[in-house]
Amino acid sequence: MEMLIAFLILFLLLGFILIQILKLKTTSSSNLPSYPLIGSTLSFNKNRHRLLQWYTDLLRKSPSQTITVDHLLRRRTIITANPENVEHILKTNFYNFPKGKPFTDLLGDLLGGGIFNSDGELWSSQRKLASHEFTMRSLREFTFEILREEVKNRLVPVLSSAADGGRTVDFQEVLKRFAFDVVCKVSLGWDPDCLDLTRPVPDLVNAFDVAAAISARRATEPVQAVWKLKRLLNVGSERKLREAIRTVHESVSEIIRAKKKILEIGGDVSDKKDLLSRFLAAGHDEEAVRDSVISFIMAGRDTTSAAMTWLFWLLSENNDVEEKILEEVRNKRSLGLGFEDLREMSYTKACLCEAMRLYPPVAWDSKHAANNDVLPDGTRVRRGDKVTYFPYGMGRMEKVWGQDWDEFKPDRWFEEEPNYGTKPVLKSVSSFKFPVFQAGPRVCIGREMAFLQMKYVVGSVLSRFEIIPVCNNRPVFIPLLTAHMAGGLKVKIKRR
Ligand code: HEM
Repeated sequence: MEMLIAFLILFLLLGFILIQILKLKTTSSSNLPSYPLIGSTLSFNKNRHRLLQWYTDLLRKSPSQTITVDHLLRRRTIITANPENVEHILKTNFYNFPKGKPFTDLLGDLLGGGIFNSDGELWSSQRKLASHEFTMRSLREFTFEILREEVKNRLVPVLSSAADGGRTVDFQEVLKRFAFDVVCKVSLGWDPDCLDLTRPVPDLVNAFDVAAAISARRATEPVQAVWKLKRLLNVGSERKLREAIRTVHESVSEIIRAKKKILEIGGDVSDKKDLLSRFLAAGHDEEAVRDSVISFIMAGRDTTSAAMTWLFWLLSENNDVEEKILEEVRNKRSLGLGFEDLREMSYTKACLCEAMRLYPPVAWDSKHAANNDVLPDGTRVRRGDKVTYFPYGMGRMEKVWGQDWDEFKPDRWFEEEPNYGTKPVLKSVSSFKFPVFQAGPRVCIGREMAFLQMKYVVGSVLSRFEIIPVCNNRPVFIPLLTAHMAGGLKVKIKRR
């Protein structure tokens, strides 16, 4: 009986404390309710399934385009769509905003100490070594040849056969497989040959998909201890993740061992142009090499395909824009698009930028403050805070892009002044206003390779085929690690 009374009193006391907490509600300038102790956890959980939209709405209401979300039992998150803050985080005070342990914990099982998941010396040594792969010379002599082969021998035949057979294909899937082939050839010097739609995708591709999706979902667990406990017990999604990671690691290690053998027979590694050969030549051990190339495959595979998928859909809604790309390509295509032609395709580049403004392949990206700081808009940052810059929200801010932010208008990327001669000139837009490739010292190292690839594919496909979506519903944007279109982009293909 006494136990029961004690329990009842405790229950009433807790209820009383909770009511007092809820009465102490404060509301930030962006109308985000926050309570002592539990912060904004209630609102966060209510909006967990629609964080993109929720953050974007709150940021629009915030005078500084920055919001702070306090959590229960979790570090608080500062989210910003303010270009000055972005410059401060990514460049001016770069060393105070590393990825940090909470981030590297999330992806550590999959990516280990690879470039995408490391800070400090471990990051900078990989960045230096990899930079050779991305010089103009390497792009012209190595990457462009890979692209040319993949388009001519695989992409065009696959689309021709779909057109002749009148089949519906998932264009997002085609572009994903294409990008996977390309990034594996560039990073590993290995050809997965997965563009043949009649064959199942290799296990490695599926394992990458599963591992990336589950790792990304770890970040949205309301209490981080939950996934850590599941990992410890090896149950549920964590069990699936472990299996997928094993497949990725084993497959890549096998490729590394095969490459080592080839190099032993072939002698000098220094003339081999793929990234794997460069890392091996630098004398890194097998595990470090494995982690490095996995990061490159992750970074390069779904990003370009996501950007192109959204562009092809946007073009189907904006025929005048598609016509202008065709004009640009037709002027160049007598002998097929060459490397120099691609560099000149500024209208196609503007279309890609405009598609990525609205649908950025990396919707958000977070750092963790090493020390207390104050952002340029006055937001106080505490050591350990998660600080997120938010390309998806930034592309939808009236303050950043003007009243017509929701229109697909490639022309906004050109200078308005007519005194540049007859050829329109692309504007130089600050990468802190448009951080889809990140910015500062850690700006995407594959940016030029990505534009080369995307221009080549868009030009080569559009000049030969019409891409006609079969579904009229507005597609849904899913962020995860890299964004994609929910359910893919189902299209019919018609020869021009
Ligand atoms: C449209 C295409 C692409 C977009 C939008 C994009 C975007 C980004 C973003 C936002 C980051 C920063 C991520 C972070 O630090 O958490 C990044 C980093 C990176 N990207 Fe890309 N990327 C694209 C294509 C590529 C390609 C084709 C490659 C080449 C294989 C590549 C290689 C990398 C690497 C290695 C990093 C890590 C750089 C570092 O930390 O120093 N990316 N990219």
